[in-house]
Amino acid sequence: MTELTDITGPATPADPVAFPQDRTCPYHPPTGYDPLRDGRALSRATLYDGREVWLVTGHATARALLADPRLSSDRRRPDFPMPSPRFAGVRDRRVSLLGVDDPEHQRQRRMMIPSFTVKRATGLRPTIQRTVDGLLDRMTEQGPPAELVSAFALPVPSMVICGLLGVPYADHEFFEGQSRRLLRGPTAADTQDARRRLEEYLGALVDEKAQQPAPGDGVLDDLVHGQLRTGALSRAEVVSMAVILLVAGHETTANMISLGTYTLLQHPERLAELRADPALLPAAVEELMRMLSIADGLVRVAREDIEVAGTTIRAGEGVFFSTSVINRDPSQYADPDALDFHRPSRHHVAFGFGIHQCLGQNLARAELEIALGSLFARLPGLRLAAPAEEIPFKPGDTIQGMLELPVTW
Ligand code: HEM
Repeated sequence: MTELTDITGPATPADPVAFPQDRTCPYHPPTGYDPLRDGRALSRATLYDGREVWLVTGHATARALLADPRLSSDRRRPDFPMPSPRFAGVRDRRVSLLGVDDPEHQRQRRMMIPSFTVKRATGLRPTIQRTVDGLLDRMTEQGPPAELVSAFALPVPSMVICGLLGVPYADHEFFEGQSRRLLRGPTAADTQDARRRLEEYLGALVDEKAQQPAPGDGVLDDLVHGQLRTGALSRAEVVSMAVILLVAGHETTANMISLGTYTLLQHPERLAELRADPALLPAAVEELMRMLSIADGLVRVAREDIEVAGTTIRAGEGVFFSTSVINRDPSQYADPDALDFHRPSRHHVAFGFGIHQCLGQNLARAELEIALGSLFARLPGLRLAAPAEEIPFKPGDTIQGMLELPVTW
């Protein structure tokens, strides 16, 4: 492995930190990770079940390891570490793309790339803008005040991903509810049941599409008529692909919209800067991605021994990546806790890195630019409708974001 630059030695604290931990402020890493925030490459951490794993916190080491084929994403491996008990319930399930290693991963990813290029995302911009405008029309007709998660942050990506995939938005309450249970249901049984229901629902939709003589114009129609009919993908693979696209396609972006709004409202000078110069929007979205790092705990297991940062990760050991700490590595980002739209923040790992780097990142960027840009342009007086410290946000063992966001204008 090549020499890495973020190493201040293989420093590990005497006591492993608990991982994951809840954030104290919704847009900062948990204060419990403070001992790890000195630019060190990796440390030891303890999971809910007492298992010790590696926790990667250095930027250069993170990018090297996320690109290392000796780390596996296969959740069906018995040694694959689980961040919380609820995910142990879906260990036996096949997870397309995210849970598959090469060469299988490459085969699946190749099929999906044409639907998620920058060009496709740019082509979707007018549709996204119409969706955003329609939701803002409704919100302003009915308010102020409003609860921004249900009125805006969730429906924007939910409508967009439905249109892209060819899933009827009329069913959104069902699949949004099941996605919520899948990602943060109270028990493993809940997670398992939510996954089964999503598979049944999307399985029925796939069968329906397979019976239509000509394909519709959604990504699922393409998969059914292109890959399923030719035998390139099995029905189970198409269904698993549909589950991940639908869940990843709305839950993540919804959290970025709600938490991004909250964060901008808590940084009035930056918000004023953005309002004065809308050309800053793409840079602002990138910086918010870095700062909020909502997917704060990527997971892998070592298939072989790996020498890295003066340490050996042994085969079978679990490896977690705290994106919130990695994206604030002081050797990579000056004054890392500051929200700064002028820094080069593009090399953050908030969308991951390596072969599993987010498939939907171009779409997510387009959605965030349009949603945040239009929200603040349409509602110049937008502000929180409750004391900031009383607004609930998500626990540390799931995608980070606001549970609700009361606003007025
Ligand atoms: C701002 C919103 C988003 C964030 C923060 C985000 C974050 C991530 C991250 C960190 C990964 C890598 C996981 C890992 O390496 O273990 C990932 C993968 C993925 N994301 Fe996103 N994502 C977002 C939006 C989306 C959207 C809109 C879609 C649309 C379908 C999507 C689909 C996927 C898929 C399919 C993968 C797996 C890719 C693979 O394994 O090849 N994501 N995402």
